[in-house]
Amino acid sequence: GSTLQAAAAESGRYFGTAIAASRLNDGTYSSIANREFNMITAENEMKMDATEPQRGQFNFSSGDQIVSWARQNGKKVRGHALAWHSQQPGWMQNMSGSALRQAMLDHVTQVATHYRGQVYAWDVVNEAFADGSSGARRDSNLQRTGNDWIEAAFRAARAADPNAKLCYNDYNTDNWSHAKTQAVYSMVRDFKSRGVPIDCVGFQAHFNSGNPVPSNYHTTLQNFAALGVDVQITELDIEGSGTSQAQQYQGVVQACLSEARCTGITVWGVRDTDSWRASGTPLLFDGSGNKKAAYTSVLNAL
Ligand code: XIL
Repeated sequence: GSTLQAAAAESGRYFGTAIAASRLNDGTYSSIANREFNMITAENEMKMDATEPQRGQFNFSSGDQIVSWARQNGKKVRGHALAWHSQQPGWMQNMSGSALRQAMLDHVTQVATHYRGQVYAWDVVNEAFADGSSGARRDSNLQRTGNDWIEAAFRAARAADPNAKLCYNDYNTDNWSHAKTQAVYSMVRDFKSRGVPIDCVGFQAHFNSGNPVPSNYHTTLQNFAALGVDVQITELDIEGSGTSQAQQYQGVVQACLSEARCTGITVWGVRDTDSWRASGTPLLFDGSGNKKAAYTSVLNAL
C-alpha cells in the first residue's frame, strides 16, 4: 500500500488518527487525514466535559461534526472516552458517592445511546490505574464511589450500544514487567472470568526518552490478547526525531503486527504542530505536512 490505511488493510488492520474538529477546515490537515487514515478518534470532542457541560444537558455538536466527517469519507470511529477522572465538567468534579455514580452511569448511557451504531469501539473507561509500583487504582472521585465503578460503566455501555466493542484504555501499560500493566491485566482477567462485558484493551502509547517503547511490547500485547480481548494502539506518539524516532515507531508497528488480535494503530494527531505535546515533534508529518522518516518507517513496517 502507498498510504498508511492501505498498508494496514493488507493485514486486515486499520490505521487511525486523532482529529480535532477545529482543524477540519485546514485543507492540508484534512487532506492528509483523509488520504492516510481510516479510523478516527475525536481528540477532545466526545469527552465528558464536551458532551455534558451541564448535568443532563448534552452537547454533541463537535462530536457529531467529527462523526459526520468520518462517515462522509468512509472512515470508522473510535469513541473516546465515556468515563474518566480527567476533563470532567465542573458540575461533576465536585460530586461524590451514589449521586456521582448515577451521574456517571447516566452519562455513559446517554452518550453511548446518541452514537449507537456509529462507533467501532468505545474507550469506556480511561486511565483508572495509578502510576508507579503500587499496582493500585488511581484515586479519583469515580474510584471513591466504589471499586466496581469500572464494571458498572462497562455494563451500562453494553446496554446502550450492544454492537460497539468496549475497551479499557490506559498509558504506561506497555511494558509487561510494570506493576501498572500487571494490575490492568488482572482486572481484565477478572472481568473475562466473571462475564463483565469487555472486548478490547487500548494502549495509549505516549512514548518519550523517560518512557521508551519497551522491548517486551509484543509479550504484553500477546498476554492481553490471550485473555480473549482485542488489543489496539490508541494514542501513539513518540518524542524525538530522525532515525531513532523512526526505529521506535517501527518497533511499535512490529509489536502490533506480530499479534493477530492487535486490530489497529492510531496516532495522536496528524502533524507535529497538531500534537498535544506542544514543544515536541512526536508525529509522522512535520508542521508543513511533509512525511517524516518515522512515516516511511511505519509504512514499510506495515
Ligand atoms: C489530550 C488532548 O490531546 C489535548 O488536546 C487535551 O488538552 C488533553 O487531552 N490521554 C488521553 C487523551 O486519553 O484523551 C489525552 O488527550 C492525552 C492523554
